[in-house]
Amino acid sequence: MMETLDFLYPSSSFITTMSMINILGLSFFGFLEMMGINLQYSKLWNPNSKRIKVSSRTGMLLLYTPAFLVGFASFWIFPEKGFRPLLVTTALTIHFFKRVLEVLFVHKYSGGMVLDSIILISSGYSTTTATMIHAQHIAQGFMEPAIDLKCPGILLFSVGICGNFYHHYLLSKLRGKGEKGYKIPKGGLFHQVICPHYLFEILEFVGVFFISQTLYSLSFTISTTLYLIGRSYATRKWNVKKLYDLMMLASLGSWMTQL
Ligand SMILES: NC(=O)c1ccc[n+]([C@@H]2O[C@H](COP(=O)([O-])OP(=O)(O)OC[C@H]3O[C@@H](n4cnc5c(N)ncnc54)[C@H](OP(=O)(O)O)[C@@H]3O)[C@@H](O)[C@H]2O)c1
Repeated sequence: MMETLDFLYPSSSFITTMSMINILGLSFFGFLEMMGINLQYSKLWNPNSKRIKVSSRTGMLLLYTPAFLVGFASFWIFPEKGFRPLLVTTALTIHFFKRVLEVLFVHKYSGGMVLDSIILISSGYSTTTATMIHAQHIAQGFMEPAIDLKCPGILLFSVGICGNFYHHYLLSKLRGKGEKGYKIPKGGLFHQVICPHYLFEILEFVGVFFISQTLYSLSFTISTTLYLIGRSYATRKWNVKKLYDLMMLASLGSWMTQL
């Protein structure tokens, strides 16, 4: 067992190894996103790829449903748990259930996803969810960390999930029924940051880490942040390339109205 800091539960060698794999794996994919080698979904997918494809909605459901089911099943697999493991399981299950509902009822997709990206991401989400819950279960055998971060964690998780949903809603409003084109995102924090929905997802996972206080949830939050930084860098490049003309027209329009 590894002794850790005042705000973390001690960690087993299995959990420490899984944490390292997580950070190295996701930061590698974040680096690839920055280099222009993107996971094949949303606007950064290549529709001309010869690989097996499915619609975005189907693909996204395949990403989130298994992780949601892992969270949901954990309520029965680990029935005898304390308040903190219950909170962690609830937060993860709510997160993935919300994503399933958004895929079904909020997002308006235009394209597809490549099957190998789906398998990679879906197995990643399920494995990390199961490991995070397992790590919490193991942590129950130890003393509580001296610093308790549960309350700020619940607050951050709630702000994160609401902010993430709100920006998904704003993105969905950019398209009318049946529309598939891309427009300049507006409202919320879209004028301040490239991907505010990513920013709020990071806040959400900082919240999950505060609730959980395990090494694994810390590593998951760091690796998600690194991956999303890479993906938002790629989105910024895509926006400059594809939405530049729209931005010029919009600024010309606002300049004309000032005359
Ligand atoms: N935990 C993780 O590791 C991780 C990794 C990736 C994503 N996520 C989370 O998953 C959520 C979705 O991520 P994402 O990468 O799929 O987001 P995204 O690329 O911004 O797409 C979200 C939705 O908005 C639409 N959209 C995006 N930009 C648009 C524009 N300029 N005009 C019109 N519609 C637009 C997309 O349509 P199209 O499908 O047609 O492009 C899609 O329906 C985010 O909250 C993110 O934080 C988490």
